[in-house]
Amino acid sequence: MPKKPAQPRASNSQSAQPRPAKPRAHARPAAPALEVNASNGMPLGMPPSRFLTQYWQKHPLLIRGALAGWQVPITPEDLAGLACEETVLARIVHRERKRASWTLQPGPYSEATFTGLPERDWTLLVQDVDKWDAEVACLLDFVRFLPTWRIDDVMVSYATDGGGVGPHIDQYDVFLVQGIGRRRWSINTERNAPRALRPGTDLKLLAEFAPTHSFALEPGDVLYLPPDVPHDGVAEGACMTFSIGMRAPAESELLLDLAEHLAEQIPDTQRYSDPDLRPARARGLIDSAVLARVRAQLGPFAQRIKAGELALWFGRMITRYRSAALIAGNGQPASLEQVRAMLLSGRALLRHPFARFAWIEHGAEGASLFAAGHMVHCPRALAEALCANARIEPDDAVLRDGSALTALRDLLAVGCVQFARAPRKRA
Ligand code: SIN
Ligand code: CO
Repeated sequence: MPKKPAQPRASNSQSAQPRPAKPRAHARPAAPALEVNASNGMPLGMPPSRFLTQYWQKHPLLIRGALAGWQVPITPEDLAGLACEETVLARIVHRERKRASWTLQPGPYSEATFTGLPERDWTLLVQDVDKWDAEVACLLDFVRFLPTWRIDDVMVSYATDGGGVGPHIDQYDVFLVQGIGRRRWSINTERNAPRALRPGTDLKLLAEFAPTHSFALEPGDVLYLPPDVPHDGVAEGACMTFSIGMRAPAESELLLDLAEHLAEQIPDTQRYSDPDLRPARARGLIDSAVLARVRAQLGPFAQRIKAGELALWFGRMITRYRSAALIAGNGQPASLEQVRAMLLSGRALLRHPFARFAWIEHGAEGASLFAAGHMVHCPRALAEALCANARIEPDDAVLRDGSALTALRDLLAVGCVQFARAPRKRA
């Protein structure tokens, strides 16, 4: 007999106070099965709605036989031919087993490129093959349950034995369809798996990779990987893999595009205005009234931006705005000792004539000083002095503070201030 579901019961008896629930360890829902078999009419091995709820953007899934019987529409030779076209985006990655390293051989390629390749340990990857080959585009039918605008492309790779691009993570969801031959995929499903990159390589490879799972994919098998899962695919014999990649704009790209879109609708005549301006308390100061005007002028777009962030952005923006010259440092940042020595030798400091300066006060003593889009923290006295004077003498009291010297060193490095020529010796 089915049990009646337990109902919370109201009680009017004082002795029957509800007992506080025992604190329970916050249990994370167990990951669903990593491997399933596709079946007739269910290439995902489950209805798309279940795939989307349980796996999409959450967990990897290996679907055995998802595209069983699929006839691969292009040959490795077709792919190499495509990679020789100027407008096609292609890469060859070589693996050096002994050093466990991978190198990129950039295109353009010619027939000779392919005849000169070694027997093993390399892979050719060609992007956007669905745009060049209508039959490859048909593979996108596999993801017809996804919005079309979310799909990026079908990238096709041909790998010789041992070939692969090395352990890495992708920023996008991907369906890795095994077309020809066999490829071993190793993945790490741990949330806190190391994700630091190897230094000094064009390929964004992981510095450390310790797989938690490894499986060989045969033709027709599909491995779905959400973004940010460390993975590595190594060919076991020559093989071809078709990667259906998704696209998802970065938040920064969304914001930038929205800002541009909104900006296009604002007439040029609508500008920063300050009919309520009062005499300046100090030269170059960006005070709270300025920031309030900027915030009001930007409307709802700026309402959620913290005061400090708005101030930092405005200081950098307004000192960069409409600058007629590009200010560059000499590329050799001086040490504090060198700056000190130059001042002791009597060299004055000159503002770069094209550098605009402004500052924001922090309490009674501190300041953020902006110069041509750069920002340094410094004593208020230095900020005021640099905004008010194009030249500061080496013995000026504003230069005595240690943090003033640090700020000066940074401004010298970007070219916003320079040392004047050495004073002429008196005859
Ligand atoms: C491939 O080698 O075909 C796919 C590379 C990847 O994104 O892991
Ligand atoms: Co990848």
